[in-house]
Amino acid sequence: MSGEWWKKAVIYHIYPRSFQDSNGDGIGDLPGITSRLDYLKWLGADAIWISPVYPSPMADFGYDVSDHTDIDPAFGSIADMDALISAAHNRDIKVVLDFVPNHTSNEHPWFLESKSSRTNPKRDWYYWKDPKPDGSPPNNWLSRFDGKSAWKFDDGTGQYYLHTFLEEQPDLNWRNPEVRAAMQEILRFWFKRGVDGFRVDVSYRVMKHPDFEDNPLNPDWTERMDPSFRVTEKNTKNTPDIHQFNRWIRETADEFDNKVTIGEMNLSIEQLCKHFGTPEKPEFHLPFNFRLIFSAWTKENVKRYIHEFNEFLPVNGWPNWVLSNHDQPRFATRAGAKQTRNGHLLLFTVKGTPTLYYGDELGMENVEIPPDRVQDPWELLTPGLGLGRDPVRTPMRWNDRTHAGFTKPASTPWLPLGKDASHQNVSTQRKTSGSMLRFVKELIQIRKESKALLLGDINLLENLPDAVLGYVRHHIDDSNAYLVLINFSDETVPLDEAALFSEMGLTRPSLHCLLATEGDQNEIALHSPISILPNQGLLFSFQYEN
Ligand code: GLC
Ligand code: CA
Repeated sequence: MSGEWWKKAVIYHIYPRSFQDSNGDGIGDLPGITSRLDYLKWLGADAIWISPVYPSPMADFGYDVSDHTDIDPAFGSIADMDALISAAHNRDIKVVLDFVPNHTSNEHPWFLESKSSRTNPKRDWYYWKDPKPDGSPPNNWLSRFDGKSAWKFDDGTGQYYLHTFLEEQPDLNWRNPEVRAAMQEILRFWFKRGVDGFRVDVSYRVMKHPDFEDNPLNPDWTERMDPSFRVTEKNTKNTPDIHQFNRWIRETADEFDNKVTIGEMNLSIEQLCKHFGTPEKPEFHLPFNFRLIFSAWTKENVKRYIHEFNEFLPVNGWPNWVLSNHDQPRFATRAGAKQTRNGHLLLFTVKGTPTLYYGDELGMENVEIPPDRVQDPWELLTPGLGLGRDPVRTPMRWNDRTHAGFTKPASTPWLPLGKDASHQNVSTQRKTSGSMLRFVKELIQIRKESKALLLGDINLLENLPDAVLGYVRHHIDDSNAYLVLINFSDETVPLDEAALFSEMGLTRPSLHCLLATEGDQNEIALHSPISILPNQGLLFSFQYEN
């Protein structure tokens, strides 16, 4: 794959602590990932995105970086990373790393210098401000994790520093040109080592409003809500000059060939479409689309998002979709078992690049974490609010042996495996026809062989029954077009065949069912009278009549 490979790629997201442990310390590592590349190839992954593996005190499990150009010993060594990159490339799999620009660890040498005195040359690399006359923090900005002040007072120098996440994660000042230069050099370091791109952590939070005014209060906030939502994020998120930051990242990537930049932003589709920039001044290749993670799995929502991409996508834009990640409840838990396959049917047939979170291909759900096994600082800081992320970060399940093959039998995995690991695992599902894993693999295979599904246009069908979502994918260079139908309800829904075919521009039905989430696909043909089973998703191919 070259050129705009990221348009056609299936991106597989690995949370490295939880994928495969190779040395028995209970923590997943780089050699572990390398040992599973053949599985990823078999599944059809074209790229892996690995959450941070740099040296880190692990206050936020790697999102607190203390050295950007090395590997944390828990994950291996830089030689292990080189080996992983070359083993992946040998299999035509791209490697995307996580870049954390908003903050460093408070143990990063830059911060230690910055903190050492008011006159240190790196003082301005972070945001230091005087207290208000009464000694309180400079403004009302809140930490995203505990909803307390985002400012921490430093006794040594008598000023506050800004941390919009943990106090162990001081925010970097990107308005300082030395910071920019140093961070761009880090991107180059990895690009030169063969890394194919970066997912840029909380990219839309990096530029703070330069006036440092209070954020307006959030009138809708109530006690049971995420405490950090007490005030809005007007001056700390998606500020007007964020596009300048996007350009710094993109320009650095464009010094090299075929690199991808993915921006993390929880925005509406209309807003995220502004992060593509323009053909002359491009920004992110893929501003991450979190809509399916943050909204209920309903026909209305999905239909609206497809519409919005059709409406707001700029000429140089390309959609992308994701169902789960390491911060939010897994899709199978949110949408329920009956709709899990439908989510994946959509993910791999809708127009845009899909990102698959490890374990979702097995139908993994959130795992309940006993209180004495909690690891995530977010849970520890806000107990009981359900914000903790451990339940979605539990180890990958490889086989039906001890710890599902994640770590050595005598070792203790860093998070518990969960109950159903003995049957919900790769080796069992690989052998079982009709399994979730076999379904996902087949879907990816069909996608890979079809230009219409990879790059074609999408037309939503407007004349379907309320519970059914339908769309057609087609491409001028593909003789096959594709019809997807998803029943969001628990009822059997009859379809009006004449209306369906007329909307599709067909006079006679000539559809071939390629895949069904329920029932035997060989017995499914759209002939009268036709109906779609409860919670059923269907993928058909057809040809337009001349
Ligand atoms: C992003 C990451 C999350 C991390 C936070 C702070 O939201 O996905 O895991 O805790 O940024 O870096
Ligand atoms: Ca290990």
